[in-house]
Order: sequence, then C-alpha cells, then structure tokens
Amino acid sequence: MNFQELVFSRTSTRAFTGSAIPAEHIRLILEAGLRAPNACNLQSWHLYCVLGKEKVAALTDAVCHQKWIANAAFVVVITEDTNALSQRFGKEAADRFAAQDSGAAAENMLLMATELGYGGCFVGAFDPENCRAFVNAPTERTPVLLLPVGVPSAPVVLRDRKPFDETVTFIGEMPEVSAPTIEEKPFELQCASLPGAVFDDLNLESVSFHNINMSGAKFDDINLGGATFGNINLSDSSFGGLCMNRARFGCVELNGAGFENVELDEVVFKNCSMRGAKLENVDITGMTVNGKPIGE
Ligand SMILES: Cc1cc2nc3c(=O)[nH]c(=O)nc-3n(C[C@H](O)[C@H](O)[C@H](O)COP(=O)(O)O)c2cc1C
Repeated sequence: MNFQELVFSRTSTRAFTGSAIPAEHIRLILEAGLRAPNACNLQSWHLYCVLGKEKVAALTDAVCHQKWIANAAFVVVITEDTNALSQRFGKEAADRFAAQDSGAAAENMLLMATELGYGGCFVGAFDPENCRAFVNAPTERTPVLLLPVGVPSAPVVLRDRKPFDETVTFIGEMPEVSAPTIEEKPFELQCASLPGAVFDDLNLESVSFHNINMSGAKFDDINLGGATFGNINLSDSSFGGLCMNRARFGCVELNGAGFENVELDEVVFKNCSMRGAKLENVDITGMTVNGKPIGE
C-alpha cells in the first residue's frame, strides 16, 4: 500500500476479533507515534500501552462505557505533560501545543496500524481520572486520548466527508483540479476464530474468508455476491435473506448449516462436506453435481 492508499483507506474501526497482535507490530505502532512532529521536540506525550485480554477489558470497564474497546488487542493511553511547554510558552500555548502533539502521535499510530492490516479508533470520551489511576500515571501526566487497536472483524466502509469546497478555502490562486479517486480495497480476513459471529446488514461483495472457524455464525441481509470461502468451518451457521450469487466455497464444512431465502445462482461448492443437506422449494435449473446435470 502506498502512502496515498494508506491515508485514503484508514477508517475508525470499532469491531475487533479479539486476537492478539505480535509484539514487533505493537512496538512499530508505538514508535510511529513517537516519530510524530511535536512542539520544540519537547515531546509532551507519554504513552501507556495496556495489553492482554484481561487488562484491556478492565481498562474498558474502569474508564468508559464503550464496550467494543474490550475486544481490542491493546489500547494506547496518550497522556500529556505540559510543564516544559508552559515554562517556555505560557499555559495557553502549552495546552494548545500539547493537544497538537497528541493528535499527531495518535494519527501516526493509526496509520501504522492500518498499514500493518489492523484497525483502531481515537477515543476522546472517557474518564481521565479513572484512567490515570488505572495506568498509575503521576499527576503531571494527564490522559487525553485512548487508542484501541485490534484485528478488524468486519469491513468498515469509508465515512463521507463534507464537500471539499465547504471545508477548504484557498487564499490565493488555485487552478481547478479534480478530486483524487479513492479506490476501496476488498476486505480480507485470514486465520481468525469467529465462532458465533453475527454479520448483519452488510455489503460483503467479493470479500474473501480463509482459514476461519465461523461455526454457528449468523449471516443476515448481506450481499455476499462473488464472495470466496476457503477452508472455513461453517457448521451450524445460518444464512438468511442473502444474495450469494457467484460465491465460491472450497474445503468448507457446512454440516447443519441453514440457507433460507438465499440467492445462490452460479455458486460453486468444491471439496465441501454437506452431509444431510436438504433442498426444499429450490430452483435448481442448470445445477450440476460432480459435473453431471441434475437440474434439467
Ligand atoms: C478527538 C476525537 C475523539 C473521538 N472520540 C471518539 C470516541 O470517544 N468514541 C468513538 O467511537 N469514536 C471517537 N472518535 C472517532 C470519530 O468518531 C471518527 O474519526 C469520525 O466519525 C470519522 O470517521 P473515520 O475516522 O472513520 O473517518 C473520535 C475522533 C477524534 C478525532
């Protein structure tokens, strides 16, 4: 991914699989934060990195009511110490500069997380005093932002922005140029464990799922046209009200799975186990089994 693709594909991600992230990647994300521009290089920030399922869940309980944070692999607590900036510039400028330092560090970390295939979100709505107590920060360090980061469990579409002309004013001559084209990348999820996952009201067209345990998952009102399922356990899962035309299933366990009101035109099942499958009120025109037409 080049830098332009990176910036234009980052979105706030609030749904995580709960999987851990390798230590090298956590380190890289934190280092990216510390490379951010900051006022006079006084580095008013100090980062606390809360990691491990239990600690992340306990932080979520202690500091805010946004339950989705508990599934993050880790949460960076960004704290600000304005003392050095205040001595040089006075309190008002120090507060402004420290906020700018933290914002720059947070965005660097989010971009690095996105580059590595993870997702994250700024979280400004939390209790700073409970958070200070949780990470045991001294009084001069004020928690200002949480940054939960994790393995995304569902695709996140880009959120619209106000029109460019309403939000940018040129002072000086600017020739007319067209907007950059933003290409949305298809979402890919590999090697995850998502038993009992719920997918509801999503556009998952052409998405690919590989090496995933999705037993008992529920898929409702989803466009899965052209989606690929490879090496997936979908036993006892349910599919309702879906378009799955041209979907491909390879090495998929579908024992006990239920498909109701699903469009499966031109779907391909190869090397799948469908023991005990029942077809009722199904139009099978053109259907073949092991190369033999059965739906004449
Ligand atoms: C300063 C700040 C505070 C935010 N606080 C929260 C928050 O408490 N909870 C949350 O879910 N999202 C929070 N967000 C994320 C925004 O909702 C999100 O960036 C915005 O809706 C635009 O979506 P996008 O980042 O996907 O483009 C915050 C973002 C910023 C910059």
